[in-house]
Amino acid sequence: MTLQFNLTQDQAETSAAPCVVVGLFEDGTPSAATARIDEKSGGAIRRLFESGDVTGKLGSSHVLFALTGIAASRVLVVGLGEAKKFDAARFARASGEAARALKSLPLDRAVSYLTELDVPGKDAAWKIRSAALASDAQAYKYTATFKAKPKPTRPEFSAIAFAAPASAATALGQATAIANGVRFARALGNLPPNICTPAYIAEQAQKLATAHPGVICEVLEEEQMQSLGMGALLGVAMGSANAPRLIALQWNGADDAQPYALVGKGVTFDSGGINIKPSAGMEEMKFDMCGGAGVLGAFLAAVEMKLKLNLVCVVPAVENMPGGRAQRPSDVVTTMSGQTVEILNTDAEGRLILCDALTFVQKFKPQVIVDAATLTGACVVALGKHASGLMTQDDALANELLAAGEATLDRAWRLPLWDDYQGQLDTGYADVANIGGKYAGAITAGCFLARFTEGFRWAHLDIAGSAWDEGRKGSATGRPVPLLAQWLMDRAG
Ligand code: BES
Ligand code: MN
Ligand code: ZN
Repeated sequence: MTLQFNLTQDQAETSAAPCVVVGLFEDGTPSAATARIDEKSGGAIRRLFESGDVTGKLGSSHVLFALTGIAASRVLVVGLGEAKKFDAARFARASGEAARALKSLPLDRAVSYLTELDVPGKDAAWKIRSAALASDAQAYKYTATFKAKPKPTRPEFSAIAFAAPASAATALGQATAIANGVRFARALGNLPPNICTPAYIAEQAQKLATAHPGVICEVLEEEQMQSLGMGALLGVAMGSANAPRLIALQWNGADDAQPYALVGKGVTFDSGGINIKPSAGMEEMKFDMCGGAGVLGAFLAAVEMKLKLNLVCVVPAVENMPGGRAQRPSDVVTTMSGQTVEILNTDAEGRLILCDALTFVQKFKPQVIVDAATLTGACVVALGKHASGLMTQDDALANELLAAGEATLDRAWRLPLWDDYQGQLDTGYADVANIGGKYAGAITAGCFLARFTEGFRWAHLDIAGSAWDEGRKGSATGRPVPLLAQWLMDRAG
Protein backbone atom coordinates (compact mmCIF):
# COMPACT_ATOMS: atom_id res chain seq x y z
CA MET A 1 0.00 0.00 0.00
CA THR A 2 1.52 3.28 -1.02
CA LEU A 3 0.42 6.43 0.70
CA GLN A 4 -0.60 9.33 -1.52
CA PHE A 5 0.35 12.84 -0.34
CA ASN A 6 -1.70 15.98 -0.97
CA LEU A 7 -2.08 19.53 0.30
CA THR A 8 -5.23 21.12 1.65
CA GLN A 9 -6.25 24.70 2.34
CA ASP A 10 -9.58 23.70 3.94
CA GLN A 11 -10.32 24.67 7.53
CA ALA A 12 -10.19 21.82 10.03
CA GLU A 13 -13.74 22.37 11.25
CA THR A 14 -15.31 22.42 7.75
CA SER A 15 -13.15 19.75 6.08
CA ALA A 16 -15.31 16.94 4.70
CA ALA A 17 -12.52 14.34 5.08
CA PRO A 18 -13.34 11.12 7.00
CA CYS A 19 -10.81 12.22 9.60
CA VAL A 20 -8.97 15.38 10.56
CA VAL A 21 -5.75 15.15 12.57
CA VAL A 22 -4.92 17.82 15.14
CA GLY A 23 -2.41 18.20 17.98
CA LEU A 24 -2.70 18.85 21.70
CA PHE A 25 0.08 19.51 24.22
CA GLU A 26 0.01 17.64 27.51
CA ASP A 27 -0.73 20.78 29.53
CA GLY A 28 -3.94 21.12 27.51
CA THR A 29 -2.67 23.82 25.15
CA PRO A 30 -4.37 23.22 21.81
CA SER A 31 -2.82 23.86 18.40
CA ALA A 32 -4.65 26.49 16.32
CA ALA A 33 -6.72 23.88 14.47
CA THR A 34 -7.52 22.07 17.72
CA ALA A 35 -8.71 25.34 19.25
CA ARG A 36 -11.04 26.01 16.30
CA ILE A 37 -12.51 22.52 16.48
CA ASP A 38 -12.90 22.86 20.23
CA GLU A 39 -14.75 26.13 19.82
CA LYS A 40 -17.07 24.91 17.03
CA SER A 41 -17.86 21.75 18.95
CA GLY A 42 -18.79 23.64 22.10
CA GLY A 43 -15.65 22.78 24.07
CA ALA A 44 -15.69 19.02 23.40
CA ILE A 45 -11.90 18.64 23.35
CA ARG A 46 -11.37 20.71 26.49
CA ARG A 47 -13.94 18.61 28.37
CA LEU A 48 -12.31 15.35 27.25
CA PHE A 49 -8.91 16.70 28.33
CA GLU A 50 -10.29 17.67 31.73
CA SER A 51 -11.88 14.25 32.22
CA GLY A 52 -8.58 12.60 31.30
CA ASP A 53 -9.96 10.82 28.21
CA VAL A 54 -7.58 12.81 26.02
CA THR A 55 -4.10 13.33 27.47
CA GLY A 56 -1.89 15.19 25.03
CA LYS A 57 0.97 12.86 26.01
CA LEU A 58 3.61 12.24 23.37
CA GLY A 59 2.88 8.94 21.64
CA SER A 60 -0.83 9.01 22.47
CA SER A 61 -3.74 9.59 20.12
CA HIS A 62 -7.50 9.56 20.57
CA VAL A 63 -10.27 9.27 17.98
CA LEU A 64 -13.33 11.42 18.61
CA PHE A 65 -16.45 10.55 16.65
CA ALA A 66 -19.24 12.74 15.28
CA LEU A 67 -18.45 15.97 17.11
CA THR A 68 -21.33 18.40 16.75
CA GLY A 69 -20.50 21.39 14.59
CA ILE A 70 -17.59 19.59 12.86
CA ALA A 71 -17.95 18.43 9.25
CA ALA A 72 -15.47 15.52 9.42
CA SER A 73 -16.85 12.32 10.91
CA ARG A 74 -13.71 11.81 13.03
CA VAL A 75 -11.17 13.98 14.76
CA LEU A 76 -7.87 12.35 15.71
CA VAL A 77 -6.25 14.22 18.59
CA VAL A 78 -2.52 13.49 18.65
CA GLY A 79 -0.49 14.08 21.82
CA LEU A 80 2.42 16.52 21.42
CA GLY A 81 3.90 16.14 24.91
CA GLU A 82 5.49 19.08 26.72
CA ALA A 83 5.23 22.30 24.73
CA LYS A 84 8.73 23.40 25.85
CA LYS A 85 10.32 20.21 24.52
CA PHE A 86 8.51 20.14 21.18
CA ASP A 87 11.12 19.82 18.43
CA ALA A 88 11.83 18.24 15.06
CA ALA A 89 12.10 14.68 16.42
CA ARG A 90 8.86 15.01 18.39
CA PHE A 91 7.08 16.47 15.37
CA ALA A 92 8.12 13.41 13.36
CA ARG A 93 7.11 11.11 16.20
CA ALA A 94 3.63 12.68 16.46
CA SER A 95 3.20 12.50 12.67
CA GLY A 96 4.12 8.83 12.75
CA GLU A 97 1.75 8.10 15.62
CA ALA A 98 -1.06 9.77 13.69
CA ALA A 99 -0.46 7.51 10.70
CA ARG A 100 -0.29 4.44 12.91
CA ALA A 101 -3.71 5.30 14.35
CA LEU A 102 -5.17 6.13 10.93
CA LYS A 103 -4.03 2.79 9.56
CA SER A 104 -6.27 0.97 12.04
CA LEU A 105 -9.40 2.96 11.17
CA PRO A 106 -11.88 2.13 8.39
CA LEU A 107 -11.05 5.14 6.25
CA ASP A 108 -9.18 5.78 3.03
CA ARG A 109 -7.90 9.28 3.64
CA ALA A 110 -7.28 11.94 6.24
CA VAL A 111 -6.20 15.55 6.48
CA SER A 112 -3.51 16.58 8.95
CA TYR A 113 -3.16 19.96 10.60
CA LEU A 114 0.03 18.99 12.40
CA THR A 115 1.95 20.78 9.63
CA GLU A 116 0.56 24.07 11.01
CA LEU A 117 2.51 23.57 14.24
CA ASP A 118 5.61 25.62 14.95
CA VAL A 119 8.75 23.49 14.88
CA PRO A 120 11.83 25.41 16.08
CA GLY A 121 14.23 26.10 13.22
CA LYS A 122 12.15 24.32 10.58
CA ASP A 123 10.23 25.77 7.66
CA ALA A 124 6.99 24.69 5.97
CA ALA A 125 8.80 22.59 3.36
CA TRP A 126 10.63 20.63 6.07
CA LYS A 127 7.36 19.99 7.92
CA ILE A 128 5.69 18.62 4.79
CA ARG A 129 8.61 16.34 3.92
CA SER A 130 9.03 15.09 7.47
CA ALA A 131 5.33 14.55 8.11
CA ALA A 132 5.04 12.69 4.81
CA LEU A 133 8.05 10.44 5.46
CA ALA A 134 7.01 9.70 9.04
CA SER A 135 3.47 8.84 7.88
CA ASP A 136 4.71 6.66 5.08
CA ALA A 137 7.07 4.76 7.36
CA GLN A 138 4.08 3.77 9.52
CA ALA A 139 1.70 3.09 6.63
CA TYR A 140 4.16 0.69 4.96
CA LYS A 141 3.12 -2.92 5.06
CA TYR A 142 5.04 -5.92 3.75
CA THR A 143 2.84 -8.03 1.47
CA ALA A 144 5.19 -9.45 -1.16
CA THR A 145 5.19 -13.11 -0.11
CA PHE A 146 1.75 -13.53 1.42
CA LYS A 147 -0.77 -15.48 -0.60
CA ALA A 148 -3.40 -13.32 -2.27
CA LYS A 149 -6.00 -12.30 0.27
CA PRO A 150 -9.62 -11.46 -0.58
CA LYS A 151 -10.14 -7.79 -1.35
CA PRO A 152 -10.49 -5.82 1.89
CA THR A 153 -14.11 -5.18 2.75
CA ARG A 154 -13.40 -1.86 4.38
CA PRO A 155 -11.56 1.20 3.12
CA GLU A 156 -7.80 1.26 3.73
CA PHE A 157 -5.75 4.31 4.66
CA SER A 158 -4.10 5.37 1.42
CA ALA A 159 -3.99 9.18 1.23
CA ILE A 160 -3.10 12.01 3.54
CA ALA A 161 -3.42 15.74 2.90
CA PHE A 162 -1.36 18.25 4.85
CA ALA A 163 -2.62 21.69 5.74
CA ALA A 164 -0.28 24.08 3.93
CA PRO A 165 -0.44 26.85 1.35
CA ALA A 166 -0.40 25.84 -2.32
CA SER A 167 3.16 27.17 -2.48
CA ALA A 168 4.26 24.01 -0.60
CA ALA A 169 3.74 21.97 -3.79
CA THR A 170 7.50 21.69 -4.38
CA ALA A 171 8.03 20.23 -0.93
CA LEU A 172 5.18 17.82 -1.55
CA GLY A 173 6.86 16.65 -4.76
CA GLN A 174 10.12 16.15 -2.87
CA ALA A 175 8.29 14.23 -0.16
CA THR A 176 6.73 11.93 -2.73
CA ALA A 177 10.08 11.30 -4.45
CA ILE A 178 11.94 10.56 -1.21
CA ALA A 179 9.12 8.35 0.09
CA ASN A 180 9.25 6.41 -3.19
CA GLY A 181 12.98 5.95 -2.71
CA VAL A 182 12.51 4.76 0.87
CA ARG A 183 9.74 2.36 -0.17
CA PHE A 184 11.90 1.00 -2.97
CA ALA A 185 14.73 0.31 -0.53
CA ARG A 186 12.44 -1.26 2.07
CA ALA A 187 10.68 -3.47 -0.45
CA LEU A 188 13.95 -4.79 -1.83
CA GLY A 189 15.46 -5.20 1.63
CA ASN A 190 12.55 -7.19 3.01
CA LEU A 191 12.33 -9.70 0.16
CA PRO A 192 13.62 -13.17 0.97
CA PRO A 193 17.04 -13.94 -0.49
CA ASN A 194 15.78 -16.79 -2.67
CA ILE A 195 13.81 -14.13 -4.56
CA CYS A 196 16.08 -11.13 -4.12
CA THR A 197 19.18 -12.55 -5.83
CA PRO A 198 21.89 -10.51 -7.58
CA ALA A 199 20.05 -11.05 -10.89
CA TYR A 200 16.79 -9.86 -9.31
CA ILE A 201 18.36 -6.62 -8.06
CA ALA A 202 19.82 -6.04 -11.53
CA GLU A 203 16.35 -6.53 -13.04
CA GLN A 204 14.87 -3.98 -10.64
CA ALA A 205 17.57 -1.48 -11.58
CA GLN A 206 16.87 -2.10 -15.24
CA LYS A 207 13.13 -1.57 -14.64
CA LEU A 208 13.89 1.65 -12.82
CA ALA A 209 15.84 2.83 -15.86
CA THR A 210 13.07 1.86 -18.30
CA ALA A 211 10.48 3.68 -16.21
CA HIS A 212 12.52 6.88 -16.09
CA PRO A 213 13.58 8.30 -19.45
CA GLY A 214 17.13 9.62 -19.32
CA VAL A 215 18.38 6.98 -16.90
CA ILE A 216 21.07 4.67 -18.28
CA CYS A 217 21.51 1.20 -16.81
CA GLU A 218 24.51 -1.02 -17.37
CA VAL A 219 24.75 -4.50 -15.83
CA LEU A 220 28.04 -6.40 -15.85
CA GLU A 221 28.15 -10.18 -15.61
CA GLU A 222 30.95 -12.47 -14.49
CA GLU A 223 32.88 -12.47 -17.77
CA GLN A 224 33.07 -8.70 -17.92
CA MET A 225 34.12 -8.54 -14.29
CA GLN A 226 36.84 -11.03 -15.07
CA SER A 227 38.20 -8.94 -17.92
CA LEU A 228 38.20 -5.89 -15.64
CA GLY A 229 40.17 -7.87 -13.07
CA MET A 230 37.65 -7.71 -10.22
CA GLY A 231 39.28 -10.57 -8.34
CA ALA A 232 37.98 -9.54 -4.92
CA LEU A 233 34.34 -9.28 -5.95
CA LEU A 234 34.54 -12.53 -7.92
CA GLY A 235 36.22 -14.29 -5.01
CA VAL A 236 33.21 -13.60 -2.78
CA ALA A 237 30.82 -14.81 -5.48
CA MET A 238 32.63 -18.14 -6.03
CA GLY A 239 30.71 -20.12 -3.43
CA SER A 240 27.27 -19.22 -4.71
CA ALA A 241 25.08 -20.75 -7.40
CA ASN A 242 23.58 -17.28 -7.88
CA ALA A 243 25.97 -15.45 -10.21
CA PRO A 244 27.02 -11.91 -9.28
CA ARG A 245 26.04 -8.70 -11.05
CA LEU A 246 27.59 -5.27 -11.07
CA ILE A 247 24.91 -2.64 -11.59
CA ALA A 248 25.64 0.91 -12.76
CA LEU A 249 22.92 3.54 -13.16
CA GLN A 250 23.50 7.03 -14.54
CA TRP A 251 21.40 10.18 -14.32
CA ASN A 252 22.31 13.24 -16.34
CA GLY A 253 20.72 16.32 -14.83
CA ALA A 254 23.51 18.84 -15.40
CA ASP A 255 25.23 18.71 -18.80
CA ASP A 256 28.88 17.74 -18.41
CA ALA A 257 29.47 18.39 -14.69
CA GLN A 258 31.43 15.71 -12.86
CA PRO A 259 28.98 13.25 -11.30
CA TYR A 260 28.30 12.45 -7.69
CA ALA A 261 28.76 8.73 -7.12
CA LEU A 262 26.86 6.42 -4.78
CA VAL A 263 28.09 2.88 -4.18
CA GLY A 264 26.11 0.35 -2.12
CA LYS A 265 26.91 -3.10 -0.72
CA GLY A 266 24.54 -5.63 -2.28
CA VAL A 267 25.18 -8.93 -0.52
CA THR A 268 21.85 -10.68 -1.07
CA PHE A 269 22.66 -13.19 1.65
CA ASP A 270 25.68 -13.26 3.93
CA SER A 271 26.15 -16.74 5.37
CA GLY A 272 29.73 -15.79 6.20
CA GLY A 273 31.09 -18.21 3.60
CA ILE A 274 33.62 -20.77 4.84
CA ASN A 275 33.96 -18.68 8.02
CA ILE A 276 30.30 -19.45 8.47
CA LYS A 277 28.21 -17.37 10.84
CA PRO A 278 26.51 -18.83 13.93
CA SER A 279 22.93 -20.02 13.25
CA ALA A 280 21.20 -17.62 15.63
CA GLY A 281 20.12 -14.57 13.71
CA MET A 282 21.64 -15.68 10.42
CA GLU A 283 18.28 -15.03 8.72
CA GLU A 284 18.86 -11.31 9.27
CA MET A 285 21.69 -11.49 6.75
CA LYS A 286 19.11 -11.24 3.96
CA PHE A 287 19.32 -7.52 4.83
CA ASP A 288 22.97 -7.42 3.84
CA MET A 289 21.99 -5.80 0.53
CA CYS A 290 20.43 -2.77 2.23
CA GLY A 291 23.34 -0.51 1.25
CA GLY A 292 22.71 -1.39 -2.40
CA ALA A 293 18.96 -0.95 -1.97
CA GLY A 294 19.60 2.35 -0.18
CA VAL A 295 21.72 3.90 -2.92
CA LEU A 296 19.23 2.71 -5.55
CA GLY A 297 16.43 4.30 -3.51
CA ALA A 298 18.34 7.58 -3.20
CA PHE A 299 19.05 7.46 -6.92
CA LEU A 300 15.33 6.96 -7.62
CA ALA A 301 14.45 9.92 -5.39
CA ALA A 302 17.04 12.13 -7.16
CA VAL A 303 15.68 11.14 -10.57
CA GLU A 304 12.07 11.73 -9.53
CA MET A 305 13.06 15.17 -8.25
CA LYS A 306 14.93 15.71 -11.54
CA LEU A 307 17.85 17.09 -9.55
CA LYS A 308 20.15 19.32 -11.56
CA LEU A 309 23.27 17.26 -11.06
CA ASN A 310 24.90 14.21 -12.55
CA LEU A 311 24.75 11.02 -10.58
CA VAL A 312 26.07 7.49 -10.89
CA CYS A 313 24.98 4.65 -8.68
CA VAL A 314 26.95 1.42 -8.51
CA VAL A 315 25.81 -1.74 -6.75
CA PRO A 316 27.95 -4.86 -6.58
CA ALA A 317 25.38 -7.62 -6.02
CA VAL A 318 26.72 -10.93 -4.71
CA GLU A 319 25.74 -13.83 -2.49
CA ASN A 320 28.27 -15.00 0.13
CA MET A 321 28.00 -18.80 0.49
CA PRO A 322 30.19 -21.71 1.59
CA GLY A 323 30.71 -24.64 -0.77
CA GLY A 324 33.25 -26.62 -2.77
CA ARG A 325 34.01 -23.63 -4.97
CA ALA A 326 33.95 -21.03 -2.21
CA GLN A 327 37.03 -18.98 -1.41
CA ARG A 328 39.09 -19.99 1.64
CA PRO A 329 40.67 -18.10 4.50
CA SER A 330 44.28 -17.53 3.36
CA ASP A 331 43.34 -17.13 -0.32
CA VAL A 332 45.01 -14.16 -1.98
CA VAL A 333 43.06 -12.27 -4.64
CA THR A 334 44.06 -9.43 -6.96
CA THR A 335 41.67 -6.49 -7.02
CA MET A 336 40.78 -4.30 -9.99
CA SER A 337 43.08 -1.64 -8.52
CA GLY A 338 46.02 -4.05 -8.76
CA GLN A 339 46.43 -4.35 -4.99
CA THR A 340 46.43 -7.88 -3.62
CA VAL A 341 44.30 -8.91 -0.63
CA GLU A 342 44.77 -11.82 1.73
CA ILE A 343 41.38 -13.20 2.75
CA LEU A 344 41.77 -13.90 6.44
CA ASN A 345 38.04 -14.13 7.03
CA THR A 346 35.50 -14.90 4.30
CA ASP A 347 32.86 -13.17 6.40
CA ALA A 348 34.54 -9.81 5.86
CA GLU A 349 33.12 -9.91 2.32
CA GLY A 350 31.48 -6.50 2.10
CA ARG A 351 34.78 -4.64 1.79
CA LEU A 352 35.89 -7.15 -0.86
CA ILE A 353 33.00 -6.46 -3.21
CA LEU A 354 33.11 -2.73 -2.41
CA CYS A 355 36.79 -2.29 -3.16
CA ASP A 356 36.30 -3.40 -6.76
CA ALA A 357 33.09 -1.36 -7.07
CA LEU A 358 34.93 1.70 -5.73
CA THR A 359 37.68 1.23 -8.31
CA PHE A 360 35.09 0.66 -11.05
CA VAL A 361 33.13 3.84 -10.26
CA GLN A 362 36.26 5.94 -10.73
CA LYS A 363 35.94 5.57 -14.50
CA PHE A 364 33.03 8.03 -14.29
CA LYS A 365 35.45 10.68 -12.87
CA PRO A 366 33.19 11.43 -9.90
CA GLN A 367 33.70 14.63 -7.89
CA VAL A 368 32.62 12.79 -4.73
CA ILE A 369 32.01 9.14 -3.85
CA VAL A 370 29.75 8.05 -0.98
CA ASP A 371 29.28 4.39 -0.17
CA ALA A 372 26.67 2.77 2.08
CA ALA A 373 27.13 -0.70 3.50
CA THR A 374 25.92 -3.01 6.27
CA LEU A 375 29.61 -3.53 6.84
CA THR A 376 30.41 -4.39 10.44
CA GLY A 377 28.82 -5.71 13.61
CA ALA A 378 31.42 -3.54 15.36
CA CYS A 379 29.60 -0.42 14.15
CA VAL A 380 26.40 -1.64 15.83
CA VAL A 381 28.35 -2.24 19.04
CA ALA A 382 29.76 1.31 18.87
CA LEU A 383 26.68 3.29 17.86
CA GLY A 384 23.66 1.04 18.34
CA LYS A 385 20.79 1.16 15.90
CA HIS A 386 20.05 4.88 15.94
CA ALA A 387 23.02 6.28 14.06
CA SER A 388 24.84 5.20 10.93
CA GLY A 389 28.62 5.30 11.21
CA LEU A 390 30.27 7.95 9.04
CA MET A 391 33.92 7.70 8.07
CA THR A 392 35.83 10.09 5.84
CA GLN A 393 39.03 12.10 5.87
CA ASP A 394 37.22 15.03 4.25
CA ASP A 395 35.85 17.34 6.96
CA ALA A 396 33.70 19.38 4.58
CA LEU A 397 32.09 16.25 3.18
CA ALA A 398 31.58 14.89 6.68
CA ASN A 399 29.76 18.05 7.69
CA GLU A 400 27.54 17.97 4.60
CA LEU A 401 26.49 14.40 5.29
CA LEU A 402 26.03 14.93 9.03
CA ALA A 403 23.84 17.97 8.29
CA ALA A 404 21.73 16.02 5.78
CA GLY A 405 21.25 13.26 8.35
CA GLU A 406 20.30 15.76 11.03
CA ALA A 407 17.82 17.50 8.73
CA THR A 408 16.03 14.25 7.89
CA LEU A 409 16.42 12.65 11.33
CA ASP A 410 18.29 9.90 9.48
CA ARG A 411 21.34 10.61 11.54
CA ALA A 412 24.97 9.57 11.21
CA TRP A 413 27.84 9.92 13.69
CA ARG A 414 31.45 10.30 12.68
CA LEU A 415 34.18 7.84 13.59
CA PRO A 416 37.86 8.68 12.96
CA LEU A 417 39.59 7.37 9.89
CA TRP A 418 43.14 8.14 10.93
CA ASP A 419 46.06 6.43 9.25
CA ASP A 420 47.08 5.21 12.73
CA TYR A 421 44.68 2.29 12.23
CA GLN A 422 46.06 1.23 8.82
CA GLY A 423 48.78 -0.94 10.33
CA GLN A 424 46.14 -3.34 11.63
CA LEU A 425 45.60 -4.43 8.02
CA ASP A 426 49.23 -5.42 7.41
CA THR A 427 50.06 -9.00 6.41
CA GLY A 428 53.11 -10.83 5.15
CA TYR A 429 51.22 -12.39 2.22
CA ALA A 430 49.59 -9.54 0.29
CA ASP A 431 49.33 -5.75 0.09
CA VAL A 432 46.53 -5.81 2.62
CA ALA A 433 44.54 -8.22 4.79
CA ASN A 434 40.75 -8.15 4.77
CA ILE A 435 40.41 -7.98 8.56
CA GLY A 436 42.05 -5.74 11.12
CA GLY A 437 41.89 -7.64 14.40
CA LYS A 438 39.68 -7.22 17.41
CA TYR A 439 39.87 -3.46 17.98
CA ALA A 440 37.96 -0.75 16.07
CA GLY A 441 36.37 -3.13 13.58
CA ALA A 442 34.18 -0.48 11.95
CA ILE A 443 37.17 1.81 11.46
CA THR A 444 39.55 -0.82 10.09
CA ALA A 445 36.84 -1.77 7.56
CA GLY A 446 36.72 1.91 6.59
CA CYS A 447 40.53 1.98 6.40
CA PHE A 448 40.44 -0.96 4.02
CA LEU A 449 38.08 0.91 1.70
CA ALA A 450 40.16 4.08 1.98
CA ARG A 451 42.99 2.28 0.18
CA PHE A 452 40.78 2.03 -2.90
CA THR A 453 39.60 5.65 -3.02
CA GLU A 454 42.94 7.49 -2.91
CA GLY A 455 42.79 10.84 -4.69
CA PHE A 456 39.01 11.09 -4.46
CA ARG A 457 36.70 12.91 -2.08
CA TRP A 458 35.04 9.92 -0.45
CA ALA A 459 32.90 9.01 2.55
CA HIS A 460 31.71 5.69 3.92
CA LEU A 461 28.43 5.08 5.75
CA ASP A 462 28.28 1.91 7.85
CA ILE A 463 24.54 1.21 8.11
CA ALA A 464 24.79 -2.20 9.81
CA GLY A 465 22.72 -0.89 12.74
CA SER A 466 20.36 1.53 11.03
CA ALA A 467 19.27 -0.42 7.94
CA TRP A 468 16.73 -2.69 9.58
CA ASP A 469 14.78 -3.30 12.79
CA GLU A 470 15.57 -6.57 14.54
CA GLY A 471 13.21 -9.44 15.24
CA ARG A 472 10.58 -11.71 13.68
CA LYS A 473 8.66 -8.75 12.40
CA GLY A 474 11.77 -6.64 11.89
CA SER A 475 11.75 -4.73 8.66
CA ALA A 476 14.13 -2.77 6.47
CA THR A 477 14.01 0.91 7.46
CA GLY A 478 14.89 2.44 4.10
CA ARG A 479 17.84 4.22 5.68
CA PRO A 480 20.04 5.94 4.51
CA VAL A 481 17.74 7.05 1.67
CA PRO A 482 16.53 10.21 3.44
CA LEU A 483 20.09 11.26 4.36
CA LEU A 484 21.46 10.65 0.85
CA ALA A 485 18.46 12.22 -0.92
CA GLN A 486 18.74 15.33 1.28
CA TRP A 487 22.47 15.54 0.67
CA LEU A 488 21.92 15.39 -3.10
CA MET A 489 19.15 18.01 -2.87
CA ASP A 490 21.54 20.28 -0.97
CA ARG A 491 24.26 19.74 -3.58
CA ALA A 492 21.87 20.49 -6.45
CA GLY A 493 20.95 23.77 -4.72
N1 BES B 1 27.22 -8.16 6.99
C1 BES B 1 28.16 -8.32 8.04
C2 BES B 1 28.08 -7.21 9.08
C3 BES B 1 26.89 -7.23 9.98
C4 BES B 1 26.85 -8.08 11.07
C5 BES B 1 25.84 -6.35 9.78
C6 BES B 1 25.77 -8.06 11.92
C7 BES B 1 24.78 -6.33 10.65
C8 BES B 1 24.74 -7.18 11.72
C9 BES B 1 29.58 -8.32 7.51
O1 BES B 1 29.74 -8.89 6.27
C10 BES B 1 30.40 -9.12 8.47
O2 BES B 1 30.17 -10.29 8.56
N2 BES B 1 31.34 -8.46 9.14
C11 BES B 1 32.15 -9.11 10.11
C12 BES B 1 33.57 -8.62 9.91
C13 BES B 1 34.58 -9.38 10.68
C14 BES B 1 34.71 -10.79 10.14
C15 BES B 1 35.90 -8.67 10.59
C16 BES B 1 31.63 -8.76 11.49
O3 BES B 1 31.19 -7.61 11.68
O4 BES B 1 31.62 -9.64 12.34
MN1 MN C 1 30.03 -11.00 6.40
ZN1 ZN D 1 28.09 -8.83 5.06
